[in-house]
Amino acid sequence: MRTAKFLSVFSPATEEQRKENFENYWEFTQQHGGQLFEDDKDLAKKRARLRYFKDNPVKLRQPLADPDAFYRNYIKMKDDPKSLDRMTLMLTGMYKFARHEWVGIKGAWNVIPDMANSHKVQDKISRVHLAEEFCHWRLFDEMLRTCGLDKIEWVPLDPVKEWIYEQFPKFPGFLMDTPAFVTELMGVTYYCYLHRLFDDLLADEPEVRDRLKELLDEITIDEVAHVGQRRNFIGPIGMKVSKWLVKPFYTLFFNDIPEVGQLFDVKQMIKDGEAFDFNELPDYMIKRSWIPSYCKA
Ligand SMILES: [Fe+2]
Ligand SMILES: [Fe+2]
Repeated sequence: MRTAKFLSVFSPATEEQRKENFENYWEFTQQHGGQLFEDDKDLAKKRARLRYFKDNPVKLRQPLADPDAFYRNYIKMKDDPKSLDRMTLMLTGMYKFARHEWVGIKGAWNVIPDMANSHKVQDKISRVHLAEEFCHWRLFDEMLRTCGLDKIEWVPLDPVKEWIYEQFPKFPGFLMDTPAFVTELMGVTYYCYLHRLFDDLLADEPEVRDRLKELLDEITIDEVAHVGQRRNFIGPIGMKVSKWLVKPFYTLFFNDIPEVGQLFDVKQMIKDGEAFDFNELPDYMIKRSWIPSYCKA
């Protein structure tokens, strides 16, 4: 048995530790993403990476069997999900997950202070964090294009849901910080399951399988850092609330994306979220990501 390098993400932290970790994360995030292009909601290193992928495209050896099934169900599930093949379910599920993210960040971008008006380190961190999320949305779009789906449109949610997403970042920290943290954790759980599914469904498509993994890794490495960063906003009571929120949050969110329940064991995903401690992540991800000091053994 190897000794665990890391501790639960729900590990306690003092006020002083959290302050130091914000400073440390801010150093990390600036070199990780490179220059912020605020007008484009983009970051220099991320932009270059996406450019590389676009300039060196890979294609499926065998095009998707039934792209119409994707286009029929990607915005809203019209067929019985049980009637769809796993590849289609995986792709429509990815679109839906990314669409939720995209709606959330569009709402937040206009509400939180821009860099010129960010005076606290937490505000600066949040601005770069959102720019990274826009990069994730572009990476997801590239994953779907890699599978030959180049007619996708990014469609807003209905106005009520869009409004709810816009209100969320206006809430005071003590209400907003716990759900924001659990949402990041849910992202990492989903990405880890998705990564394994690529091996499962794309065994005969090694080029596309490896490319999708590379694209997803770019996202997951950021999200692992976001998990620690968002955890760092939270004090002792909030940490108890967060752990308690994992189950209802995962359940609610994944209920809205029926593909997830078809492809994955949501009960196990919840357990993985509650037990999350960074130890299952591969070393190459850990090296490029960020973990709070108080989660290191
Ligand atoms: Fe993200
Ligand atoms: Fe994130």
